[in-house]
Amino acid sequence: MRIDLVCPIPQSIESFITTGIVGRARQRSIVEIVLHNLHDYADNRYGHIDDEPYGGGAGMVIRCEPVFACIEQLKAERTYDEIIYLTPDGEPFTQALANTLALKTNLLFLAGRYKGVDQRVRDVLITREISIGDYVLSSGELAAAVVIDAIVRLLPGALNDAQSAQEDSFQEGLLSAPVYTRPAVFRGLAVPEVLLSGNHEAIRRWRYEQALARTRQRRPDLLATNGER
Ligand code: ADE
Repeated sequence: MRIDLVCPIPQSIESFITTGIVGRARQRSIVEIVLHNLHDYADNRYGHIDDEPYGGGAGMVIRCEPVFACIEQLKAERTYDEIIYLTPDGEPFTQALANTLALKTNLLFLAGRYKGVDQRVRDVLITREISIGDYVLSSGELAAAVVIDAIVRLLPGALNDAQSAQEDSFQEGLLSAPVYTRPAVFRGLAVPEVLLSGNHEAIRRWRYEQALARTRQRRPDLLATNGER
């Protein structure tokens, strides 16, 4: 998979793409991630990529020119499955959407700052708009990093234990069961006995029941959308 990220301040997420699971996936050539600085495509000698909104109001708007120049150049080089704009008014990001995007070959992300991008960019270039939650970040790069992380960890070979992405929260429409590691007793707090039993069927059943109980208590909306179990 190849991921291009077009944004105003790529330096803000450089450590994210060079470290951890995403960094390792890049080293293993499982994913190629290329950052593009919108300032490099500014059409003026000051490097300005934003301007005041027509009609007035607070905040600055990212101009059409640098975004069209950058994205049109990238589109001339390859075909993108999706060109995604990160914005609080986009479709909510879910594990299901991460699973869908993880099957693609070329993804292009546009992350804004300030008041957002000129609507004509969205009308003409963007194929999908995603929100990572009902709150406003000052950095669209951060939202892009969240989405990219959720996708990359699903790519074959990105995680060491192939099963672990399958067992994540949300993959079965449920939150995860609690996890424990050594020691078996810490300050008088014991690990549930079933986990020490070696009985894989009993462990599987216990985890399912815990996941179901946790989901019922914390996120009953998830059960409602999946049908009551
Ligand atoms: N940019 C700023 N806030 C955002 C959000 N909640 N989701 C996606 N992009 C954003």
